[in-house]
Amino acid sequence: MTSLPFKWLRTVFVVGMLSCGSTSSNAQETYTPTPENLAARDWFQNAKFGIFIHWGIYSQLAGGGNPGGEEWIMETEQIPIDKYERLAELFNPTKFDAEEWVKGFKSAGAKYITITTKHHDGFAMYDSKASDYNIVKASPFGRDIMKELKAACDKHDMKLFFYYSQLDWHHPDYYPRGRTGQVYTGRPEAGDWDKYIDYQNAQLKELLTNYGDIGGFWFDGWWDQENGSFRDRWRLEETYKLIHDLQPQALVINNHHVTPYAGEDVQPFEQDLPGENHSGFNTTYISDEMPIEMAQTMNGSWGFSLTDDGFKSTKELIQTLVGAAGRNSNYLMNTGPMPDGRIQEENLQTYKEMGEWMKIFGESIYGTRGGPVGPRPWGVTTIKDENLYVHVMDWQDSLLTVPVKDASVTSATLLRNGEKIDFDVTSNGIAINIPEGELDSWDAVIKLTMKQNFQ
Ligand code: GLC
Repeated sequence: MTSLPFKWLRTVFVVGMLSCGSTSSNAQETYTPTPENLAARDWFQNAKFGIFIHWGIYSQLAGGGNPGGEEWIMETEQIPIDKYERLAELFNPTKFDAEEWVKGFKSAGAKYITITTKHHDGFAMYDSKASDYNIVKASPFGRDIMKELKAACDKHDMKLFFYYSQLDWHHPDYYPRGRTGQVYTGRPEAGDWDKYIDYQNAQLKELLTNYGDIGGFWFDGWWDQENGSFRDRWRLEETYKLIHDLQPQALVINNHHVTPYAGEDVQPFEQDLPGENHSGFNTTYISDEMPIEMAQTMNGSWGFSLTDDGFKSTKELIQTLVGAAGRNSNYLMNTGPMPDGRIQEENLQTYKEMGEWMKIFGESIYGTRGGPVGPRPWGVTTIKDENLYVHVMDWQDSLLTVPVKDASVTSATLLRNGEKIDFDVTSNGIAINIPEGELDSWDAVIKLTMKQNFQ
């Protein structure tokens, strides 16, 4: 399913949400995705739900009692490289079991995983020839996490995406410095930027050639140079070409918070549903051509935090996943594994609860696209084939009019149990009668079946 129905409605909705970010997607016009890439985009949009993993040697410090600062602790505590490197010598996650992880993520209903292969601290969580600063050579653990995870993913039909930080607080040639990783790191105030990009691309090439087919790359850290003269020196075109040449199906995602560049395949949003901006940096134009993905923490932390108990309820997470689907977006929900290699019990419990919901209501999420009615105070809509799913998440009255005009509705049922409900096609739209009690649920999903397909 590639084309969107009721496109004019969606366009009105999207244009209405434009804020101070750039309003043009011209960069995309110079890039023609291959058929493999387009097929992968379609797969991605059908998958809808992924798990993000922030895991690294920083996980051992568990945020140092400062929730939200986990994978940033080198920067926030200004730990020089020679001290920080000792974390690698101490990292020995003997309880890491890739298959257990994948089974846990699957139990939530997730279809793909995006894991940090190298975060801003520069430490590679895989066997890299480009740098000895990696899990196999610099830690007592000595195992290639990505190899083990990829094998488990292949076995359990899960796609694997690699997060890679363009920003690097460790490499000497990451120079000029951006807004982070300054003098405290202890690096000489000199370096050859192009050498750094060569190094980055060499690492990407390893990730592209040593782990079989991957889902794609999730870049982060571009913003470090945003206000400096090296803003456009990332050689993105070359990097994206490397990826698309070696693995045409691999999707390029870059968390730079600006209008997508040529060669990017998915537009990401961080901590906010597309169109919302609680975090302050989601002011970008929202593409109605590329797939969209929203990444979010389950508490307030990406990496493992010892003290962050601010876990969102399963209801809130499900409603966010539904809200994302209704905005034609995927949901990438994060976990920060513990330094011994286990996933936090709180997260595993939540996965189970989400998975139970997905078993019943997954039909209204997987394989769908955002529906003809944009987000409303009461909820969202999704579509698949000839079905319109009305997700009622916040509504008090039994009667709700869904403003889809001239609809040829043949049946209306509660998705939960298939029970038929009353409906009436009026000049204002489809009036549905939601049975008493259903409105207390996280999402009363009403399935409206039409005469024709939506695509
Ligand atoms: C931000 C943070 C980074 C995190 C990412 C995930 O860019 O700097 O630590 O990995 O968000 O979306």
